[in-house]
Amino acid sequence: MRSHSSGVLVLEIGLLPLTPITGAEVEGVDLATDLSPSVVARLREALLRHKVLVFRNQPMNDAQQVALTNAFGGATAAHPIVNGLREDPAVLRTALSEERRALVEAEAGLSHPLKGSTPRRLRTEWHVDSTFVVNPNAITILRGIEIPPAGGDTLFANLEALYEGLSPSLRGFLDTLQAIHSRHAPSAAPRFDGKSAGPFAAVHPLVRVHPETGTRSLLVSAVFMQAIRGLNPRESTALLDFLLDELAGRDEIHARVRWERDTLVMWDNRAVAHAGPVDGLMFQEERIVHRTTVVGDLPCGPDGFVSRALMGGRFEALA
Ligand SMILES: [Fe+2]
Repeated sequence: MRSHSSGVLVLEIGLLPLTPITGAEVEGVDLATDLSPSVVARLREALLRHKVLVFRNQPMNDAQQVALTNAFGGATAAHPIVNGLREDPAVLRTALSEERRALVEAEAGLSHPLKGSTPRRLRTEWHVDSTFVVNPNAITILRGIEIPPAGGDTLFANLEALYEGLSPSLRGFLDTLQAIHSRHAPSAAPRFDGKSAGPFAAVHPLVRVHPETGTRSLLVSAVFMQAIRGLNPRESTALLDFLLDELAGRDEIHARVRWERDTLVMWDNRAVAHAGPVDGLMFQEERIVHRTTVVGDLPCGPDGFVSRALMGGRFEALA
């Protein structure tokens, strides 16, 4: 939507909040063609405020998605461990059919009675992307390529509200802590760019100060976070369990995004965690999404602690 005012072209971007504190649908932008500095600045401002931006009806190709990613700070390789597309190494293609097949193969190797007690899980765990590297990506961009008529939604949780909801006493304690995040994929294929596919491990502040807004949030993940430094194992497990219960259980900090083909979702990976698809075994159809990520800096805690790599290199922008 555009209007002329005193001869100046003014872009009218509409924001429809998904919830009072998390997420907004954005109207009036064509991301494939209009990445002028003023548009990008408006969208960045909206992203910092709402943390998750949902754009509907955004047909584009992979090169255009990479251009969008570069406009927000520089596209990384597709993933620290998993190769992207051969023709476009910044783009990670995720197909639900392949994940289902891998799950079936994994379960086929289990014999009764263990098989019957194995929880069938399909990437539903709450996490922040790539926290096993020392500089997790700042922003994640996901585009719907093939989407089922129902199912495959993604959940988001506002990590600033999660932090704010805790008592001042507990926040003060958490402000002083760091956690170890790691991921090891021994069967990972060699990376196209020759870089190591891991193992990766990093120590991050448990509370992160946002580099652009200065707001504190809890940097927690049910997938990659292993332990809290300086606590004994029972203390670490109990505290992590509590924080992850808060993350998953506080509905008022969640937003749920329903996908369509050509829906593009951009989230601030420094301020939200996400989970999904939440119901990948409840429907039969294919679900394909293409992901790109904006390079991130080193997380910093309220006490000045800066993240350190324990194993593996940085998640750098592509040259
Ligand atoms: Fe993710």
